[in-house]
Amino acid sequence: MRSGDGSLAARAARRAQRGVGATAIALLLTACPTDGPDPAPACSSGCGVCVPDTCPDPSLTYAKVQPILAAKCVVCHHDKQQDAWPMTSAQAVKDKRDEIHTVLQHCQMPPPEAKTPLSKAESQQILDWIGCGMPD
Ligand code: HEC
Repeated sequence: MRSGDGSLAARAARRAQRGVGATAIALLLTACPTDGPDPAPACSSGCGVCVPDTCPDPSLTYAKVQPILAAKCVVCHHDKQQDAWPMTSAQAVKDKRDEIHTVLQHCQMPPPEAKTPLSKAESQQILDWIGCGMPD
């Protein structure tokens, strides 16, 4: 019985060692907490999203965030809408970089009455992409 426990522990230790790489990646991915009792200062914006100082995920591209924009923003921000400027191209989005950053940081868009609420995770992806310099 005891020797059995020992080998079990040894196997667990070996598994843990193999897991170190994956754990390091997981830590990197979660290094910017969006909630929890003690958020880092960079994540302290009023509505709980984290505004990154650096690029948290270099693989983020316009192609990755475009489906979010299309579903949650372009419904109003399209060419035919008078009040809301079109958000229908990467360039149009880049031109409004600062404004988009501001409204997302304060969770001001989509408007509360919109039928397309933006989840924190989606908002975070767009903010992360902006933090990465909005790569194509
Ligand atoms: C229900 C329609 C609707 C949706 C959905 C919507 N918007 Fe808007 N948005 C508007 C309207 C209308 C305006 C212009 C009037 C205003 O400023 O309130 C606007 C204005 C803005 C502005 C300009 C604010 C400023 O400072 O001038 C930004 C930036 C913006 N929206 C970003 C977004 C983003 C990003 C999304 C998606 C996450 C989004 N909007 C979704 C209707 C919408």
